[in-house]
Amino acid sequence: MGEALRVGIAGLGTVGASVVRILAEKSAELTRQCGRAVTVTAVSARNRARDRGITLDGIAWFDDPVELARKGDIDVFVELIGGEEGAAKASVKAALEAGRHVVTANKALLAASGLALAEIAEKKGVLLNYEAAVAGGIPVIKTMREALAGNAITRVFGILNGTCNYILTRMEQEGISFADCLADAQRLGYAEADPTFDIEGHDTAHKLSILTSLAFGTKISPSAIYMEGISNITQADIRAAGELGYRIKLLGVAQRTDSGIEQRVHPTMVPTASVIAQVHGVTNAVAIETDILGELLLSGPGAGGNATASAVIGDIADIAKSRPGFQHGPVFGRPAKELAPYRKARMRAHAGGYFIRLTVHDRTGVFAAIAKRMADNDISLESIVQHASGEDSSDRKTVILVTHETTEAAVRKAVEGMEKDKHLLDKPQVIRIERAA
Ligand code: HSE
Repeated sequence: MGEALRVGIAGLGTVGASVVRILAEKSAELTRQCGRAVTVTAVSARNRARDRGITLDGIAWFDDPVELARKGDIDVFVELIGGEEGAAKASVKAALEAGRHVVTANKALLAASGLALAEIAEKKGVLLNYEAAVAGGIPVIKTMREALAGNAITRVFGILNGTCNYILTRMEQEGISFADCLADAQRLGYAEADPTFDIEGHDTAHKLSILTSLAFGTKISPSAIYMEGISNITQADIRAAGELGYRIKLLGVAQRTDSGIEQRVHPTMVPTASVIAQVHGVTNAVAIETDILGELLLSGPGAGGNATASAVIGDIADIAKSRPGFQHGPVFGRPAKELAPYRKARMRAHAGGYFIRLTVHDRTGVFAAIAKRMADNDISLESIVQHASGEDSSDRKTVILVTHETTEAAVRKAVEGMEKDKHLLDKPQVIRIERAA
């Protein structure tokens, strides 16, 4: 039996406290699995006095996480502080520079500084593990970095934010308002400290930027992601989607196209019969399409203390099982120095089907004018229906268009034209349709 792996944990919020508790409860089993004990020897958090429901007896306390990273009696530094800059970044950098392995759940940090940190880790020959940063407890990083070696990935997409999926699911199933669902997600501990990060798509974009790098061997580039959140999705959209055989999900999608790599986060219509449409509540899912394997779909708990702690503990166990001198694989699947610059596909070139919901005056010629704008932009319609909505009045009608495959540029031009025609009573709602098995 080897010497115990000494773990230092910075950040004792919901996830940090779960990690400490589970490492203690599962100590004997982890020792059997890793061939050595895994022991928390030091922690750092803001408030020493707070009751976290865990015992910290015999564990060294550091007020400063950077001090813990540099000087703690530890082999692994676990960063659960969160945030793109500040103490999280400073402490991870300090730990790597001091030759300590790092485990982090911090997607914002990796999206912003992942490559620089990977370069330090690779130079120092230590591990930088981040399974918990993407899709909570789903082992998607290990799958992409290890299990899919040799596969060329063509598209990766998924439900990467538990809060948004929880909100959309409850809005659909219970007809509850957006605000009430968000308040419940916050109460249950799924949402980020600033929930606009969840609902406006930033959290999904951070996670997607990491998956894109792993999938395509490119530099991480979150600022290149086209992003729309779910805050303007209404009950009218959800009902219309259901009637047309679709369900609305906030998806992050990265795919290789002829004009470069497309990265986008937006509310998306997926066929109700598709597997990803069955992913409800806080559950996340990631679909990966490859040349050798075909399509793989992983789903599981994407947010919350235990889901995230499970991934963190898996990463710690991998380090416990590794041996000095063993050449670990690169952090983002290829050596950080070799990750290629990112060729961004323009969003206007995106090709796909579209759902367009219009609120119009009920007058002669309105349908004809709408159809003309579509035809003028070479958009072929799969369906055009006047929707029977309880909110419609005698002069106010809802029209739903579903297009065959077209381009974003054509749809934007057609909608601009409809706005000029002055038949519209509200801002048009445009939701992209995603192909999903
Ligand atoms: N706020 C995130 C979510 C937590 O809702 O998925 C996990 O990253």
